[in-house]
Amino acid sequence: MSIQIQSLEQYREVYQKSVADPEGFWAEQASSFQWRKPWRQVLKWNFREPNVKWFVGGRLNITENCLDRHLETRGKQTALIWEPNDPKQKARKITYKQLYGQVCQFANALKAEGVKKGDRVCIYMPMVPELTVAVLACARIGAIHSVVFAGFSAVSLSDRIKDAECTVVLTSDFNARGVKNIPVKQVVDEALAMGCESVTKVIVQKNTGDPLKMVEGRDIWWHDVIKGKRKTCKATIVDSEDPLFILYTSGSTGKPKGVVHTQGGYMVYTEYTFRNVFQYQDGDIYWCTADVGWITGHSYIIYGPLLAGATTMMFEGVPTFPDPGRFWDVIQRHKVNIFYTAPTAIRALMAAGDQWVKGRRMPSLRVLGTVGEPINEEAWHWYNERVGKKRCPIVDTWWQTETGGIMISPLAGITPLKPCLATLPLPGIQPCLVDAAGNEIEGNDVEGMLCIKYPWPSIIRTTYGDHERCRTNYFAAFKDKYFTGDGARRDADGYYRIIGRVDDVINVSGHRIGTAEVEDAINKTPGVVESAVVGYPHDIKGQGIYAYVITGDAISDPDAFKKQILDVVTKEIGPIAKPDKIQLVPGLPKTRSGKIMRRILRKIAEGDVSNLGDISTLLNPEVVEDIKEGAGL
Ligand code: WTA
Repeated sequence: MSIQIQSLEQYREVYQKSVADPEGFWAEQASSFQWRKPWRQVLKWNFREPNVKWFVGGRLNITENCLDRHLETRGKQTALIWEPNDPKQKARKITYKQLYGQVCQFANALKAEGVKKGDRVCIYMPMVPELTVAVLACARIGAIHSVVFAGFSAVSLSDRIKDAECTVVLTSDFNARGVKNIPVKQVVDEALAMGCESVTKVIVQKNTGDPLKMVEGRDIWWHDVIKGKRKTCKATIVDSEDPLFILYTSGSTGKPKGVVHTQGGYMVYTEYTFRNVFQYQDGDIYWCTADVGWITGHSYIIYGPLLAGATTMMFEGVPTFPDPGRFWDVIQRHKVNIFYTAPTAIRALMAAGDQWVKGRRMPSLRVLGTVGEPINEEAWHWYNERVGKKRCPIVDTWWQTETGGIMISPLAGITPLKPCLATLPLPGIQPCLVDAAGNEIEGNDVEGMLCIKYPWPSIIRTTYGDHERCRTNYFAAFKDKYFTGDGARRDADGYYRIIGRVDDVINVSGHRIGTAEVEDAINKTPGVVESAVVGYPHDIKGQGIYAYVITGDAISDPDAFKKQILDVVTKEIGPIAKPDKIQLVPGLPKTRSGKIMRRILRKIAEGDVSNLGDISTLLNPEVVEDIKEGAGL
């Protein structure tokens, strides 16, 4: 086991040590895992190219550490609890021994279908246990998984499959979410019809069992491929720096990019952060409500908890089905000790009224967590009072797809809390704030752009197929620093408060969306000439999407036209990227060099035009009045 910090003094001591001797610190944490061959060197790095390698020369398989290692001591312990969408259906419990068997069996099936080490496998599945099995089976044989959130459209899915040149797609027939039954496999069919030539096989897990068309020669049922396969499978031993997975995420420009994480460092960091941040205790029931389609699901539903030998829960449904008391019902029934969710879910449940949580006894709860977006004071207090009954610390965990694991967060019950602050960096993490000129801002009670000065084991290694993009996106803005894209404040006590993105990424219900992506989608609507998308404060979602759209001809039926835009965005990206507000405008404010002045558009979207700044230098200052008027301001 890696270190588990017990007190604030110990945290301070360990933190100092981790900064003074990072290699010694991480070598110690890594030594508790099963390595098939020890590393020669702990760390080799530069942020210039960038080139970061951890546990150089070490060989291992992460699934041996998630599964095999626990069999002797925890074979009969529940590894995975699956709570189905329909509360009338029985929950499923899978022990470590059973999970091991299922992963090995499916790994053997993948091998039989020709999947080899280094091949990319796309996983487009709902939140069913087979999704976890699929992820681990890929890792077992050294194949690189690329999980795509099952809410993305066929176009998005196809882009991701093509970018990673996946050879196999794993999917399910349908996705049961609330009252909906979403035809997931049909989306795969549509995606593959858009020319994903690399794909030879589609393996389909039967979930709801509704009728389905299978493509002869390409599609095979999950239950058929595993037939007769052995429940043991020798793990493929890989290099510490061999890729474990690709996960696509939005940036400020262009299409989503494939963030690459590798086996060794990711393993060490996710286990270590899971145990320390949540102060996991043996026997705890742990529930993270994220979807495995996002990094939170990868690191803190699957890898972190399983590496630590925990019991992790997966929930198929939505927080409001059959009613807004569902989360609390599940916590009561499964006696959940650690609960990790997103501010957007807290706000939605808070808005549904106190009656759903009032009077609920949830004595099992010990630790609460949030992730994905800044939490507002009202939601923080509601979570603390109504859910935690003021006796459960809230860990506000700041991190990103690119960081692989939690970076700045309280340690539950150890770090004194302040509402809405991510507080202090974890040991091994060296954050700093910089100004626009790239100078580090020293001292406390200051604000700036958040960077990290030194590598940690699960730092992004590259963006798949385009290393230069990784460099320019994260390592070029400030010399020798990883730039997060977030702005932050360091208060008088040295605590960090994350303010939000300073780039053109918006955070809608905790989902990262690039404004450029949404604009590209909107621009595909017939009749649209140009568009500009900005985020604005939204009560439930944190940020909403506001789209300004210029049309060619006069639009006779604006409502029908806006509906058409929403349909196109849904088709191009998925429902999560649908603008909340669309305003048809005669023009967009531009600088003389033709750049859209988003600052002005953001202000108008916020409904605050008191201080638009100097607009006289714009190419078309008159358009600002028109836009204000159109927005009713
Ligand atoms: C935001 C999710 C404030 C931030 C794990 C970051 C947060 C982006 C927090 C990454 C938090 C995440 N407080 N903001 N506790 N956690 N963010 O890649 O803007 O989906 O850059 O990873 O979410 O989103 P991603």
